[in-house]
Amino acid sequence: MILEVKSVHVELNGVRILRGVSLSVGRGEIVMLIGRNGAGKTTTIKSIMGLVPVKSGRIVFDGRDITGMKTHKIARMGIGYAPEDRRVFADLTVEENIEIAIGNPSERDEILREVYTIFPDLKRLASRRSGYLSGGEQKMLAIARALALKPKLLLLDEPFEGLAPLVVRRLYESIWKIREKGISILIAESNITHVPKLADRVYVIERGEIVFEGSPEETLKSERVLKILRGY
Ligand SMILES: Nc1ncnc2c1ncn2[C@@H]1O[C@H](COP(=O)(O)OP(=O)(O)OP(=O)(O)O)[C@@H](O)[C@H]1O
Ligand SMILES: [Mg+2]
Repeated sequence: MILEVKSVHVELNGVRILRGVSLSVGRGEIVMLIGRNGAGKTTTIKSIMGLVPVKSGRIVFDGRDITGMKTHKIARMGIGYAPEDRRVFADLTVEENIEIAIGNPSERDEILREVYTIFPDLKRLASRRSGYLSGGEQKMLAIARALALKPKLLLLDEPFEGLAPLVVRRLYESIWKIREKGISILIAESNITHVPKLADRVYVIERGEIVFEGSPEETLKSERVLKILRGY
C-alpha cells in the first residue's frame, strides 16, 4: 500500500468531523472516496495533507508515519494535492504557474514535457494568463501544478465539479495517463457516475464514517450505497 489511513479522528471547533476513517490506496491504484456534501471528503484529504489536526489515528505514506507532519514536508515526500477550489495564480501564465510549483529547477524541462503530454490543452495555452482560462482548464492546471513535484500519490478533491461533459472526458484521459505513469490516485467525489470510468476500488463516506467499501460493480449495484447518496 502506498497510503494507509488508520482510524483517523478529526475534531474541528469542538465538532467531531471524522470518526475513525480507515482507507488505503495500493500502488498504481485509483481509489474513489464517494460521499454527499458535508460527508467529510475534503476533511479526509486535508488530514492526509496535514492541513487539519488529527486527534487520533495514524496516516502512513510509503511506509512512513506522516501523522502530524508539516504540509510542505508531506508534499515533498511525494503527495500531490489539487484542492476543491482550483488555486492558480490568475496573473501568471499557464507555464509560469507550473514552473513555480517545480521543486528542482534542473528538472524543469522534463516536468513540463511530462505535464504537457498528460494535458495537451495546457501546452496550447502555455503563454495564456491563467485568469483567462475556463473552469475546466483551471482544474487541469491545478492538477498539473500538483504533478510538478513528481508525486507518488495524487489527491484530487472533486476534480469534475462544474465541468461540461466533453471536458470531463478529456480529464478522464489525463487521469488514465497519470495512472500509466505509476502514480497512485485518491479522488474525492460526490457524483457516483465517474466510478465505472476511473475507480479500481471505492469507499463511501457518510457523517465522517466509512460506511461501505467495494469494487465499482459492487458499489453501483448496492441499494444501501444508492440510498446513502440519495440521502435516505
Ligand atoms: N473548520 C470547521 N469547523 C467546523 N466544522 C467544519 C469545519 N470544516 C468543515 N466542517 C464540517 O465538517 C463536515 C465535513 O466537511 P467536508 O468539507 O469534509 O465535507 P465534504 O464531503 O468535502 O463536502 P462537500 O461535498 O461540500 O465538499 C461538514 O459538516 C462541515 O460543515
Ligand atoms: Mg469537499
